[in-house]
Amino acid sequence: MKKKLVVLTGAGISAESGLKTFRDANGLWEGYDVMQVASIDGWHQNPQAVLNFYNLRRKQLLEVQPNQAHYDLVSLEKEYDTTIITQNVDDLHERAGSKQVIHLHGELLKVRSVQNSHLVYTWHRDLFLGDSAEDGMQLRPHIVWFGELVPQIEVAIPIVSQADIILIVGTSLQVYPAASLLQYGSHHARFIYVDPSPSVSYELRQIRDIKIVNSKATSGIKKAIALMEI
Ligand code: APR
Repeated sequence: MKKKLVVLTGAGISAESGLKTFRDANGLWEGYDVMQVASIDGWHQNPQAVLNFYNLRRKQLLEVQPNQAHYDLVSLEKEYDTTIITQNVDDLHERAGSKQVIHLHGELLKVRSVQNSHLVYTWHRDLFLGDSAEDGMQLRPHIVWFGELVPQIEVAIPIVSQADIILIVGTSLQVYPAASLLQYGSHHARFIYVDPSPSVSYELRQIRDIKIVNSKATSGIKKAIALMEI
């Protein structure tokens, strides 16, 4: 039987594709205050600003490509039963070819009714006030905003708890509940963390045996793979 590998990814894995991370930009993303435009309060206060922000990000996403780090994770599927649990809303893991991807924070190329979370549509163009779902209600980005529940966390927890290897790539581990997933790793699980500026989060400090690869994703994942094979 193949070993179970869980890869927890964050904005850092997409940085070398040309998408900015959040905290490296001091909470500003292309001049937007992330807490303002990525929160349910922000949506209620100024939905137009929120739509503008996501329209810009959607446009950028369609202009970039997966990088070698995304592809290297796909190649691991030959040897490991691999699940990617990503905080990213981009689709670069899927475009690279990863088969099992759980999006904790939603997906940028989808929208949904503000009223009925099951009415979800693929969406590649700009979204405007007045664009409505089949139920006649306004469409919103299919994104988990600050102040909202993270339903996919319930799917992710049992997968993390069964993993033999937990590989963490390009995340500051500052956003919950995503960061708390690490505490569900079993005692036999091996942890490897790839990040050029690794976090020292509480959960990370609780892990006795973790290998830190202090590198960017494209070079770091290759080093992590070498460590996995020892
Ligand atoms: N390769 C790997 N990691 C990188 C690279 C790179 N080339 N460049 C930067 N990083 C690392 C940074 O050192 C940092 O630890 O990526 C991490 C990015 O951290 P954040 O910007 O905080 O992104 P993330 O952890 O994914 O944020 C979590 O916050 O705003 C929310 O919902 C949003 O999903 C996001 C969540």
